[in-house]
Amino acid sequence: MSTSPQDGEAAVQEVLACNEQLLKSIAEGDWKTYAELCDPTLTAFEPESRGQLVSGMAFHKFYFNLGGASDPHNTTVCAPHVRLLDNVAVVSYVRLSQRVDEAGKPATYRSEETRIWHRRDGVWRHVHFHRSLTT
Ligand code: GLY
Repeated sequence: MSTSPQDGEAAVQEVLACNEQLLKSIAEGDWKTYAELCDPTLTAFEPESRGQLVSGMAFHKFYFNLGGASDPHNTTVCAPHVRLLDNVAVVSYVRLSQRVDEAGKPATYRSEETRIWHRRDGVWRHVHFHRSLTT
């Protein structure tokens, strides 16, 4: 089955909306939404995994169990790039997180993220990500 450029653009917008929802769930400590958006076999490299590839949801649930951010925060996804490969989308961008540091001063944290999404039965599920922190 072939897809038109319009179908491709619609899929890009859909997956970007899912990605935004995922980041919002992380910022708000909303485990229910995060778990719904992720495949249970999610794999990840992230700073907290100390160079190891982690599989499954338990590693991520640990942080949600600590509660969401209580300080003022704002997340910006900069220049997201989406590569569609049939039912797979590779989403790459820099995420800026504005927070208030321990001294009460505004601080901006930056991470480079690549998130892979898989569409099955018309639903996008997050299946893998790689997040690197840079200063
Ligand atoms: N640490 C959870 C996530 O970035 O998806």
